[in-house]
Amino acid sequence: MSFFEITGRRRLSGSIGAHGAKNSVLPILAACVLAPGESVIENCPGLSDVAATVEILRGLGCRVGREGDVVTVDAACVEGGVIPEHLMREMRSSVIFLGAVLGRVGRAQMCYPGGCELGPRPIDLHLDALRKLGAEIREEEGVLHCRVPDRLRGCRLALPFPSVGATENAMLAACTARGVTTITGAACEPEIEDLQIFLNKLGARVHGAGTPVVTVEGVETLHPTRHRVMGDRIVAATYLAAVGAAGGEAEVTGVDPCHLATVLEVLEQAGCSLKSGGHSVRICSTGRLRGVRPIRTAPYPGFPTDAQAVTMAALAGGEGTTVFEENIFQSRYRHVSELARMGADIRLTGRTAIVTGAPLHGAHVCSTDLRGGAALVVAALAAEGTSRVGELHHIDRGYDHLEHALTQLGAQIERIN
Ligand code: UD1
Repeated sequence: MSFFEITGRRRLSGSIGAHGAKNSVLPILAACVLAPGESVIENCPGLSDVAATVEILRGLGCRVGREGDVVTVDAACVEGGVIPEHLMREMRSSVIFLGAVLGRVGRAQMCYPGGCELGPRPIDLHLDALRKLGAEIREEEGVLHCRVPDRLRGCRLALPFPSVGATENAMLAACTARGVTTITGAACEPEIEDLQIFLNKLGARVHGAGTPVVTVEGVETLHPTRHRVMGDRIVAATYLAAVGAAGGEAEVTGVDPCHLATVLEVLEQAGCSLKSGGHSVRICSTGRLRGVRPIRTAPYPGFPTDAQAVTMAALAGGEGTTVFEENIFQSRYRHVSELARMGADIRLTGRTAIVTGAPLHGAHVCSTDLRGGAALVVAALAAEGTSRVGELHHIDRGYDHLEHALTQLGAQIERIN
């Protein structure tokens, strides 16, 4: 069992780059399946979710290599469409392979993803979209059997909720479908734009990503390409929250500040001074944040649910009250009871959390999920004394050696195995 040992209340300073975005690299690696030949993906972070994605690619028959942060995927030979159950369980977002595999080989099989640490994780929107595109999908004892009798065909898809994964799955499946697909009610997250850029480099014709209407003109075949994954805005938000909470002055690079607008607004209200550059944000904080107007998570461009926990951790050690409303996932407050062990004063009622700033102290805590784990690290950096944060496998899903990045900023944090 490994854990982080963190001694808090050290001012952070220096410059740190956000690594490649998890939520961009996963669909992009899945998209490689669509193009026979070798695609090269740069800026791939060293995450356990990327390792699981690589395992799925290999299981499908792709040859995958990695050198530093460059991953090559040779999808000359994609044989089957079976995604093993243990990988589906390890990473529920592997459902994103469905659209790509159906587009390439016309059949796929995977187990139905159950609930997870964030609550129920239905995939009805994914399946509805793929069915409308012509896939036949039946569920037998928790296993989804999917096949395309002829070829996928373009259609009009209206998503009742802007699901990120369902938008991406529909885009992937539509690339080689016959005719035009229009997705209305699409999610607008920047990672979907990155996927569009990649798909168009493969020879697809996708327009409108980043807006609620995405159009895909199906093409006969795609060809491999090279692409650099965008920087991770949630990792950047985590570094900013850490500096905000611990105090100090630092620059976070490798991210478009426009993608962080709502997070930056909150940090500014909380008393940080911020300066955005082309691809960087400079933050200066006294380390004593104050309460801000209610934070309501919402689909992009709203406040990201993925930044809720780290922001809460930063404000919990400050002064004044902030109300959080979590509107995307049902059970995304599991970090709250762990933060309470560090002295946080947080009252939970349904989807609302009322945070009243209080001095935090070191404690032994356990990560409950990916972003919840990062939140505990942020709180520990702000807390008086030494903390231990366990269950690091959650954090390693989405942060490439978080301890190295924070050490670079002068934090006292060590991974102990
Ligand atoms: C993606 C991100 C995740 C982020 C989330 C919301 C990736 C790999 N993950 O997850 O980090 O927290 O967007 O910004 O990109 N829903 C349904 N039926 C469906 C699909 C979704 O009811 O078929 C619901 C979900 O249960 C959830 C909400 O819609 O309550 C949002 O989910 P979605 O946008 O699909 O998130 P993911 O793509 O899973």
